[in-house]
Amino acid sequence: MSKKDTSNTDPNTTGHVWDGIEEFDNPLPRWWLWTFYATIAFAIVWTILYPAWPISTKGATPGLLGYSSRASVAADIERYKQANAAINKKLTTVPLDQIEKDPDLVSYALNGGASVFRTFCAQCHGSGANGNKGFPSLIDDDWLWGGTIDDIYTTISHGIRYASDEDTRDSEMPAWADQLTEQEIADVVQYVRKISGQKADAAMAKAGATVFGDNCAACHGDDGKGNRDVGAPNLTDRIWLYGGDVETLTQTVTHGRKGVMPAWAGRLSEAQIREVAVWVHQQGGGE
Ligand code: HEC
Ligand code: HEC
Repeated sequence: MSKKDTSNTDPNTTGHVWDGIEEFDNPLPRWWLWTFYATIAFAIVWTILYPAWPISTKGATPGLLGYSSRASVAADIERYKQANAAINKKLTTVPLDQIEKDPDLVSYALNGGASVFRTFCAQCHGSGANGNKGFPSLIDDDWLWGGTIDDIYTTISHGIRYASDEDTRDSEMPAWADQLTEQEIADVVQYVRKISGQKADAAMAKAGATVFGDNCAACHGDDGKGNRDVGAPNLTDRIWLYGGDVETLTQTVTHGRKGVMPAWAGRLSEAQIREVAVWVHQQGGGE
């Protein structure tokens, strides 16, 4: 009680009291005040030297130093380009099959290739390149069109059944609905089940063998092991592009299939195509 009474006349308080809490009127600490002035001075100098005050919807005062974050990024990119110019040139000029004999080129290509893959290929082939229904795994030993560096490079450059590239890889799994009866389709499906080591109806598979020899062997081979010249999959290895169950096989044979892979020549640079080709080739399934 007595404390409250004296505080109102104490020169060190403002005289304000709220619920018995008084406000002192001490000066700000000196160090604090000088820091405060310093930040103001800093801000003024900064706005003179660097781009700061908006002057239109598009720009701002440029600042005496002429700094721009855009120019600084461009300079950085240019610096990396220069630093990589020599190895980039080498990558794009040596014969394809020589790239992997040069450890520097390989490690350079793998770095670049992994990022090209993440950006342009992963949405179809999966982030680990392990594929998906209709989109082949690129990390197994099973190749539709071939697993040498040259094959892979060609596939990536020109795509598969990609209409706007005249050098694209082309072929078709025809639809058999009009050529074969339902019974023949059912039989040949059982035959494909049999040669892929799955449960199959023996009598139907036997009839299916004839259907296969007459209609399918031309592309898939007499033994069903496929033909890379026409991208016809090996039907005996239990690695399926679309699926090996009866329903999916029936669907494939009845309606045909026509997987499309875009062409990248023109969209990616020669260096990028080579980088990602090396990356794919090194993923375990390369030949
Ligand atoms: C729009 C989807 C899509 C994109 C994007 C895509 N691919 Fe493909 N890719 C496919 C399909 C579908 C096939 C299989 C085509 C077929 O049925 O023959 C394929 C096939 C391939 C093959 C041939 C595999 C084999 O077994 O012979 C390679 C190699 C390949 N892609 C690499 C790439 C690379 C590298 C990229 C990125 C630059 C890429 N793909 C981007 C859809 C795509
Ligand atoms: C003109 C060539 C050609 C003929 C004839 C042909 N196929 Fe195919 N077949 C292909 C091609 C090419 C593919 C791959 C399609 C794709 O990649 O989209 C394929 C794919 C398949 C697949 C899918 C395999 C998987 O991994 O999912 C099956 C099953 C199949 N064919 C069975 C047959 C049967 C059975 C016949 C005969 C009735 C037949 N094919 C005749 C070219 C042919």
